[in-house]
Amino acid sequence: MTDVGVTDISIYVPSYYLTHQDLAEARGVPVDKFHIGLGNFKMSIIPNWEDSVTMAANAAYQLLMKTGTDPKEIRQMVVSTESGVDYSKPVASYVQELLGIGIRCRIYEVKHACYGGTAGLINSVDRIARTNRESEKALVIMTDIAHYGFENSGEPTQGAGAVAMLVERNPKLFSVDTTQNGVYSKSVFDFWRPSGHVVPIVDGHYSIECYLKALEESAMDLKENLQLNGRRLIETLDYVVYHMPFCNMAKKAHRHFVQLEYKDADNAEREKRFKETFEKMVEPGLFGVREVGNIYTGSVYMGLVSLLESEREEVEGKKVGIFSYGSGCGAEFLICNIKENAQKLIDGLNFKKQLDRRKKISIEHYTHIYSQKPQDVRYFPQEVRHFKDEYTQFVFTGIKDHKRQYV
Ligand code: COA
Repeated sequence: MTDVGVTDISIYVPSYYLTHQDLAEARGVPVDKFHIGLGNFKMSIIPNWEDSVTMAANAAYQLLMKTGTDPKEIRQMVVSTESGVDYSKPVASYVQELLGIGIRCRIYEVKHACYGGTAGLINSVDRIARTNRESEKALVIMTDIAHYGFENSGEPTQGAGAVAMLVERNPKLFSVDTTQNGVYSKSVFDFWRPSGHVVPIVDGHYSIECYLKALEESAMDLKENLQLNGRRLIETLDYVVYHMPFCNMAKKAHRHFVQLEYKDADNAEREKRFKETFEKMVEPGLFGVREVGNIYTGSVYMGLVSLLESEREEVEGKKVGIFSYGSGCGAEFLICNIKENAQKLIDGLNFKKQLDRRKKISIEHYTHIYSQKPQDVRYFPQEVRHFKDEYTQFVFTGIKDHKRQYV
């Protein structure tokens, strides 16, 4: 069977953040609710010179540079987002132009809430596995702005960022066998954004129920698929990365997974198993969500980047379970097999370094930025030069004749 997967991965987060300490004070909420109850400490804030297009291009640019990939080698580019900028023209088209991706490339946008990125990845792995051209590459990008509006329970779970992955044969970072998966989908109204709405409608507690049900069903489907014949799925994995709209969702998910896997054990034994496995298998993947918040489609893959950067050579040759959930809802449990010698690539992730370059902004500044509309943005290209840095290569300058402008 052809070995296909991800040769390298990159992540991009915008240059501003707000602390949960400042948000808690402004909202009159005990900060422990955010720090202990949700597990979040900072959220990435996207300035008005950025959007889902620039974040996608900024993530993918890093990836093309560090892998030395000629943009013309990309034969498929899928951008998944629930923060699209147009009902018809895909974010992928803007990104194609900014990155210089060639014309002999299939490009499109995928939407299925936070699950869309996984759909793009699975489809791209299958495409590369079936192509006649050995050297064909696909670019998979997840880009989103989690924006719930002011003074509601979703506000402390906001964030923004993008993840990009290069898919090819004989991948250097991890393989993905798309036949070894578990899937689940069902129409529910847990989180949705009807046409014309700037922010989503959220039934937050119900969305957690839907998420846990989806985890249960897709884990069961994966077990059947792997023909485990009564063996425990958790014992075949070294790590698990969950979709994380907020940090403690990973805790809730893992507790549920352990309860399902050790059904016959008593409560004390299950709690012991939960504590041991959470620390070893899940905790190393959590630093990104604590610092950035929710990035919707890229969230579970930001968890993977965090895991890789925390564990480094420890992850070489290991099996990572990925649980991807998107409201609405759809879910998939898949397995990534990390390659031996992955550490060299992990050294190039520089996620912590990128987080450290961000600037803290005040609650007033955050309120100002998130009250603006894209139509309010008017920069001359020469003005945006100082918004650029090592990671921010592309910026949004405004809308002219209904066309978004970037430099
Ligand atoms: N100190 C410590 N912990 C506190 C606290 C305090 N002062 N006050 C509350 N908490 C805890 C609660 O006990 C709860 O923990 P638990 O879930 O382990 O019981 C947690 O903080 C959150 O409190 P809760 O009252 O449930 O918050 P909320 O009603 O404001 O909503 C969400 C929380 C996650 C539902 C909300 O942020 C949301 O809708 N998010 C967007 C949707 C989402 O992320 N869905 C997830 C699945 S996709």
